[in-house]
Amino acid sequence: MTRHRVAIAASILTADFGNLYRVIRKLERAGVDRLHLDVMDGHFVPNLTFGPDVVSAIRGLTRLPLDAHLMISEPSRYVDRFLDAGSDSVTFHVEIDESDESKRGTLEAIRSAGRAAGLAISPATPVDALEPFIDLLDVVMVMTVQPGWGGQRFITECMPKIDQARQAFAARGRAPRIDVDGGVNRETAAFAGAEGADVLVVGSALFQRRLDTSLEVEAVRQRAVTAREARRAGAPVGAR
Ligand code: DX5
Ligand code: ZN
Repeated sequence: MTRHRVAIAASILTADFGNLYRVIRKLERAGVDRLHLDVMDGHFVPNLTFGPDVVSAIRGLTRLPLDAHLMISEPSRYVDRFLDAGSDSVTFHVEIDESDESKRGTLEAIRSAGRAAGLAISPATPVDALEPFIDLLDVVMVMTVQPGWGGQRFITECMPKIDQARQAFAARGRAPRIDVDGGVNRETAAFAGAEGADVLVVGSALFQRRLDTSLEVEAVRQRAVTAREARRAGAPVGAR
């Protein structure tokens, strides 16, 4: 049986923005698979971070795939700038106050640029909110914290959404990449791994002063893979 591969996407939200070159080199050496870039507009979420110019600067620093996570109210207005900045995937929130037609248009714009199109669902949002967009989705991002900040506690109650999403998409012949985003560390990785998440977004757990980033990356990955294999073998995994 091939070992279930889990990709680690490092969120730089809580990194030292004054030393992004050094941070990215360290993440590359630590073996992360992707960079997860949390864009916030101070409107969809109260926090404000960075825009496409920073994504473009990061694009110039690394060959790692860049996943833009847009926690912004008007992705349709800015999507082209994040695509031009070099994002490999662009994910925005299904909860935004735009029409389904506008959301579909944005997803189509991402895909016609040859990138992966994603929708994120916040903890209170059910998977069936994705129904109108299944045919256009390459990525489903299951938020396991309230969007807006790093360093929050993992919400395990969101875990059933992974299988719900897999089943809803499989019924339509689709198999999206499923990202789990928020509060992932070496303890909570087992929950997401057991459910078969494809990408674990890890932020603050990688930037703890006393911890070795490489060890954390490997520990998170191993915990997720081991939990996945245990689940497949029928063993119970951690407390739910
Ligand atoms: C939260 C962001 C997450 C967060 C992950 O709104 O979408 O990507 O930065 O960071 P941790 O791992 O610290 O929750
Ligand atoms: Zn994120």
